[in-house]
Amino acid sequence: MSYIINGKELALSLKQEMAANVATFTEKYGRVPHLVVILVGEDPGSVSYVTGKAKASEEVGIKNTTIRKEATISEEELLGIIADLNADDSVDGILVQLPLPKHIDSDKVIAAISAEKDVDGFHPMNVANLWLKQPCTLPCTPKGIIKLLKRANVEIAGKDVVVIGRSNIVGLPVSKLLLNENATVTIAHSRTKDLAEVTRRADILVVAIGRPKFVTADMVKEGAVVIDVGVNRDPETKKLCGDVDFAAIEPKASAITPVPGGVGPMTICCLMENTIECFLRKMEK
Ligand code: GUN
Repeated sequence: MSYIINGKELALSLKQEMAANVATFTEKYGRVPHLVVILVGEDPGSVSYVTGKAKASEEVGIKNTTIRKEATISEEELLGIIADLNADDSVDGILVQLPLPKHIDSDKVIAAISAEKDVDGFHPMNVANLWLKQPCTLPCTPKGIIKLLKRANVEIAGKDVVVIGRSNIVGLPVSKLLLNENATVTIAHSRTKDLAEVTRRADILVVAIGRPKFVTADMVKEGAVVIDVGVNRDPETKKLCGDVDFAAIEPKASAITPVPGGVGPMTICCLMENTIECFLRKMEK
């Protein structure tokens, strides 16, 4: 039996704290923070994330505008929308939901967002500042994972952490945040030799590979803490499932995040926090 790390509950309590804070902003600053989310196309996963972001904004008292565009939008038009939002003083945060259609260069789009309004923490300036340990906006999922580990009283310093996945969104930044917490971090990926041998060394295993139930019980050490970033459909049951075989690993782990209700709600919660931080930096300049 392991401790189930409840991200939904933690996100709810953090959102309540933020809502109480945001409720004071109109009097203090004349308005509330404004987040603009751009959704290109109809990918069902992306539509669901964007809906979740709008709902959380409402809960916290943040103004949310969702701009929906056809998948056929040109890169030029998208860059034009971003330029307008960058110049718009009433906009504090800009998020372009990824992935984008193949004819659009995501790196170019991310770099076009003003670093001060980059609530995702994906802009090259924020990425550089993360790796230089300078003040920056942190990517939401990695930030949420650290909050979950701390809330669950998991000691990170000195621990062997294995991160499966090396994406710019999760794998790389969470590795750096864990390194900042003085963990010994191994980044494993699709070309890692004898992956199970590597993952069995982990005191803390973070899985962000995007494959349903990829991590099986034989890959996990007895007593490990397991953080599952995956959001997949189980090919058999069609239900939402993580990258980890939860039923098989839960009895072996000391603590584990469920899917849904683990990392996902924390990502959205941290997006709200980042939007407030961008707003406050602007207001307090
Ligand atoms: N697609 C999947 N995760 C994310 C995220 O954290 N931010 C954005 N913009 N797109 C995503």
